Amino acid sequence: MTGYLRKGLTVAAILAAATSSTPALMGGQTPPSPEEAAMAAADEKGRILSPKDMKQISDAIGARCTHCHVAKKPDGKPDYKAPSPLKETAKYMKIHFVDGLVTRDGKPLTCANCHAGKTRFLPHELLPDAPKSSVKGDRMELMKKMNVIAKSLGVKCDFCHAKGPDGKFAYELPTAHKQIAKVMMTEIVDKYKLKDGGELTCATCHAGKTEFLPHHTAEGGGEKTGK
Ligand code: HEC
Ligand code: HEC
Ligand code: HEC
Ligand code: HEC
Repeated sequence: MTGYLRKGLTVAAILAAATSSTPALMGGQTPPSPEEAAMAAADEKGRILSPKDMKQISDAIGARCTHCHVAKKPDGKPDYKAPSPLKETAKYMKIHFVDGLVTRDGKPLTCANCHAGKTRFLPHELLPDAPKSSVKGDRMELMKKMNVIAKSLGVKCDFCHAKGPDGKFAYELPTAHKQIAKVMMTEIVDKYKLKDGGELTCATCHAGKTEFLPHHTAEGGGEKTGK
């Protein structure tokens, strides 16, 4: 993921440099697009995400503006101020993940660290060639770890593990949830820590729930921003 991040940042930096110098070079002849005009006109006060960063955020997570800005004004243009469930999730990610975590070696995070250009990047479907696992080491330690994981997500073993033809758990078999759990271990927990130095665990984010992002729970989703 760090490879993507560096590439993302470089491209973003070039784009930022290009946009800021374009008006001077062109003598202000290129009129801004409606999106650029909306971002430039928005009030910055009390923001969690800056309207000026919207292009960068969209690229980092591979989403169009209308992925989050779903509401339209009577004239058919996006109503950027209107609340939406995914706007709430985006703000949540900024507060809890980007501002709450750092890499293991203390570097700050951006949306691109985890998303690397994709909105949904977890393996929600079981991959056809998913391998069986073969976890080595102390079985007692493993069971302790598994119990903690299950408790952190508020589930039982069968959330991630399937049963074999004999009706007994075949813990080595791949499942979609097991696949995601493995990504969480290697791509999230092993890579990041809390900003204050504390250990990042499954429970830090999950707190007893499998799904916890605002867009799963929010009805209309939050307050109208701006004025
Ligand atoms: C991942 C979700 C997401 C995407 C994608 C996104 N935005 Fe936003 N946008 C937000 C959120 C959340 C806010 C409110 C931020 C705040 O108030 O802290 C916002 C605010 C804005 C505002 C200010 C509206 C106001 O409250 O006055 C404008 C303008 C805007 N976005 C334009 C865009 C444009 C243009 C794009 C595409 C280049 C875009 N946004 C893509 C989530 C998103
Ligand atoms: C520490 C990792 C991490 C960081 C950093 C992060 N996200 Fe996420 N985000 C996730 C995970 C995990 C999901 C769930 C993805 C899935 O279901 O495949 C997600 C999902 C989302 C979704 C919902 C996507 C959908 O359409 O279902 C949005 C919107 C989002 N993130 C926005 C952001 C924004 C904006 C930032 C930067 C301010 C950000 N994220 C930073 C981990 C992260
Ligand atoms: C959130 C998903 C999740 C839950 C819940 C879960 N596990 Fe696991 N389990 C995994 C993953 C992922 C692995 C593979 C770990 C690895 O490859 O490092 C695994 C591996 C195992 C293994 C080793 C399998 C092998 O490859 O030999 C056993 C045994 C096991 N789990 C038992 C349990 C038991 C018992 C419970 C309930 C207390 C449980 N697990 C709950 C995700 C889960
Ligand atoms: C930095 C925050 C973070 C940490 C730490 C974290 N997760 Fe997640 N996890 C997420 C997000 C975000 C989602 C998407 C949740 C949603 O859609 O509401 C998710 C989703 C999942 C899912 C899919 C749930 C479903 O119903 O589809 C599993 C399984 C999972 N995580 C397991 C784990 C395990 C096991 C650990 C610890 C090894 C862990 N997670 C640590 C952020 C985190």
